[in-house]
Amino acid sequence: MDQNEAFISAVQTATLERFETTHKAPSNIALVKYWGKYASQIPANPSISFTLSEAHTSSRLLFEKASKAEVRVLYQGEPKHEFEPKVVQFLERIRLYCPFLNEYKITIDTSNTFPHSSGIASSASGMAALAMGIVTLEQKLGGIAKEAMAQKASFLARLGSGSAARSIEGPIVSWGEHHELEQSSDLYATKFERPHEIFKTYQDTILIVHKGAKKVSSTVGHDLMNNHPYKDARFEQAQTHMSSLVSALKKGNVESFIRIVESEALSLHAMMMTSNPYFVLMEPQTLEVIKKIWEYREMTETPVCFTLDAGANVHLLYPEAEKEKVHAFIEDELKSYCEDGFFIHDHCGEGAV
Ligand code: DP6
Repeated sequence: MDQNEAFISAVQTATLERFETTHKAPSNIALVKYWGKYASQIPANPSISFTLSEAHTSSRLLFEKASKAEVRVLYQGEPKHEFEPKVVQFLERIRLYCPFLNEYKITIDTSNTFPHSSGIASSASGMAALAMGIVTLEQKLGGIAKEAMAQKASFLARLGSGSAARSIEGPIVSWGEHHELEQSSDLYATKFERPHEIFKTYQDTILIVHKGAKKVSSTVGHDLMNNHPYKDARFEQAQTHMSSLVSALKKGNVESFIRIVESEALSLHAMMMTSNPYFVLMEPQTLEVIKKIWEYREMTETPVCFTLDAGANVHLLYPEAEKEKVHAFIEDELKSYCEDGFFIHDHCGEGAV
């Protein structure tokens, strides 16, 4: 049997006339980056991330039996038509796995804890919250066991946005096959087993150095890897980084963690700078902040490091025990590089609820 077939719902008839459910799903920050994919949202390399907590999406889903499938998207109670195409595309992709959706009109009312314009992508948390709601309906319809829900939600979320697969569970999650991670799969994410204590409560302060929408959509970015001159070397590097990071996360080796995580962030941006067409997504403040972080680390021997996603904002990562010191450093030295002094203190969390 094709592995995907295992995810086709067993629900024969949708017996509920009306069902309402609300889910909260967090954003996540990749440590080894997913950049490059094949058809059906199969990643070109494995990735691993911290599941966040404060930055999240809440979605209330109302399913009403109807003769024709329909969807309406609201943002904080107000109609938000510009969100609908992405949701419709997602529902199309998952219909095969959740045919009971054909019998419902769905109203989705969503809200984010972070401002829409902050440059923090809401697709991971948004798709994860939506997938959780749909799998909850499937469970109520008797189509799936409770124990299988997280995996199916991750499988569905992946079809909406690859990184969303990693927003169902926490505190550390990987997605994509890797020989050292036995349970790993290209189809869904799995919880990283037995990380060292220090990493379970790791902190992430998101420094918003530039608000506003991304200059390159991730879809375009991933596509550019198909003909990228360095793609083979990059996919191989990600595999090697996964191996070293798995070992660092288990042993609590913060020094090695820092080296790998910063290298991943810079490799991701190096890929963008060397694709055709090429992009620079960092802003001058991004580099200023990175330099400050390096200076501070060298001077104080505090184990802080940074990572970046496909944008200009900087994620500052540090152990919980360093929180007070690092918060003072942010106030004194980094806040001035943030747009309107804006940043979000976040930390590893347990995933969707
Ligand atoms: C740089 O998950 O947004 O954040 O699958 O096309 O929706 P799609 O892409 P997306 O890509 C995320 C890219 C990244 C790295 C990461 O999160 O691993």
